[in-house]
Amino acid sequence: MCGIVGYIGDKQAQPVLLDCLSLLEYRGYDSCGIAVSSRSIEVYKDAIRVAALKKAAPKLSGKIGIGHTRWATHGAPSQLNAHPHLDCTGRIAVVHNGIINNYQQLREQLIGEGHSFTSETDTEVIPHLIEKHYQGDIIKAVEAALAEIDGSYAIIVMVAGEPRLVAARKDSPMVIGIGDREKFIASDVPAILNFTNRVIYLEDGDIGVITADSVKVKQHQAEVTRTENKISWTIEDAQKSGYEHFMLKEIHEQPRVIRDTLAGWMSAPEPILDLEAVRDNGAEAMLMLACGTSYHAALVGKYIVQELLKIPVRAELASEFNYYGQALAGTMAIVLTQSGETADTLRAMKRLKEAGCRVVAITNVVGSTASRIADQTIYTRAGPEISVAATKSFIAQLMALYWIMLSYAKIDASRLSSLTAELRQLPSKVQEVLDNQDRIAECAKYLAGFKDVFFMGRGINYPVALEGALKLKEISYLHAEGYAAGELKHGPFALLGSKTPVVAIVAQDNTHEPIVTSIKEIKARHSPVLAVVPEGDDSVEELADSVIVVPQVEPLFSPVVNTVALQLLAYYTALQRGCPIDFPRNLAKSVTVE
Ligand code: G6P
Repeated sequence: MCGIVGYIGDKQAQPVLLDCLSLLEYRGYDSCGIAVSSRSIEVYKDAIRVAALKKAAPKLSGKIGIGHTRWATHGAPSQLNAHPHLDCTGRIAVVHNGIINNYQQLREQLIGEGHSFTSETDTEVIPHLIEKHYQGDIIKAVEAALAEIDGSYAIIVMVAGEPRLVAARKDSPMVIGIGDREKFIASDVPAILNFTNRVIYLEDGDIGVITADSVKVKQHQAEVTRTENKISWTIEDAQKSGYEHFMLKEIHEQPRVIRDTLAGWMSAPEPILDLEAVRDNGAEAMLMLACGTSYHAALVGKYIVQELLKIPVRAELASEFNYYGQALAGTMAIVLTQSGETADTLRAMKRLKEAGCRVVAITNVVGSTASRIADQTIYTRAGPEISVAATKSFIAQLMALYWIMLSYAKIDASRLSSLTAELRQLPSKVQEVLDNQDRIAECAKYLAGFKDVFFMGRGINYPVALEGALKLKEISYLHAEGYAAGELKHGPFALLGSKTPVVAIVAQDNTHEPIVTSIKEIKARHSPVLAVVPEGDDSVEELADSVIVVPQVEPLFSPVVNTVALQLLAYYTALQRGCPIDFPRNLAKSVTVE
């Protein structure tokens, strides 16, 4: 949930670290800091954003350094709680992403042994443990310290005067960037793309020793080989390219994302997933699991499976499944996670595997932890998504679900070919929604004047209502709730009135009539209604206060165009309210804590 970075090479470390950190802020941004080593270690850190740190930090001289951008878990955002953390001697510095479960016990033990602590963080036990075990060999000391730790971590350790960095990971992501006579370590690839596109992914349990000229990786004391990968996307893909925010850029990339995501699969000789096994398995057929926006994709997926495969399917929140969920051996479990690093999702994957399920991950990040745990991984091709609010990764997940399920659809041939043809049209349909953004921005201006907003949808558009509400609340800070249209009268009606607008998603399927009826009932309670309506449908023109027209598509695909319209609605509402759109308060893109 935090971003970590390390540099060793022939450049001054400070500017490199700050550059990388600014690309890692999506992982957390309540405080940040750097440490640079020459003969001694100098640290500068504070509860400020990276841009402010860049201005405030004095020049720290040295060609080895580590940095951190924080999403607070243990201890409030403050100068003292910011990373890097040091041992008592000030000669060992550590940055950490993850959670140390037994930190309290370790801290008490270390205090009893004479160590003194300056922060409230769980991380601070790490440099002290390393100090305790250090007898001239930093690698042995790190190994011994990690053996005492129960939890998740990606750490980088730096020792004053030593020309190397030690990196280790367990359940938190980490990559090593390879340059000429310089190396980089980071939580994620975009952070180092300004410098190199050659990377090595560390695996769970790996300890890497990195010098300017070499990378050595050990696993259980033995040296292992980790292959080098070339990243095909560029820093431009991970930058704003003239858009005011990453979120707007990423929304606008969606026609391309749909095209790219489908292109590879359509030309593949084999289906991307073998579902025959699911059919033959007499047990429960399919389970979908995810968190946040990806969970909404799973909910849409449930409707797609029911409609096309006609087999029983469940969609569950990973965080709930981990406490109450059960799965039968043989179940096909499809796990959706854009980052591939969400802690709740990873834990659920491990439980599913223990239960004997076949686990398929749909993720956007090559080499992510989810891809390592899964029996099979299907990569979406959304490219790097920087804005905390997921947009293009969600649409790419839907594309994966549509394509997989269409490959095995139990429907007649003519419907199948018309659906496949329609699917190919989706990039241009989404482009039409984007071309209508000025109209959506006008509606957003109106919405920005309220405090509470309901979203309602039915059937396959019920998850779209949930997603529309989630987008609005996370970036505009308006209170928003998504509801199944039929449920509004079981509670929310008590809150309806002229100050409570309802965004209604009107689809041209069997839910059309009941949605129109719901709109009439809502209007009778004087709530403003903003309807999202397919082109040519004038059934709510007289009823609704405002209308956003989206292109006509096959109802099964309507979540795509409707979601894009609601993404823009949320974006422009947040813009109107002056919110920090790409980095909403208290949220992070990759939630690596449970
Ligand atoms: C965080 C992000 C969301 C995302 C969720 C699940 O809350 O801010 O945008 O939907 O995590 O992430 P995943 O990477 O598993 O899809």
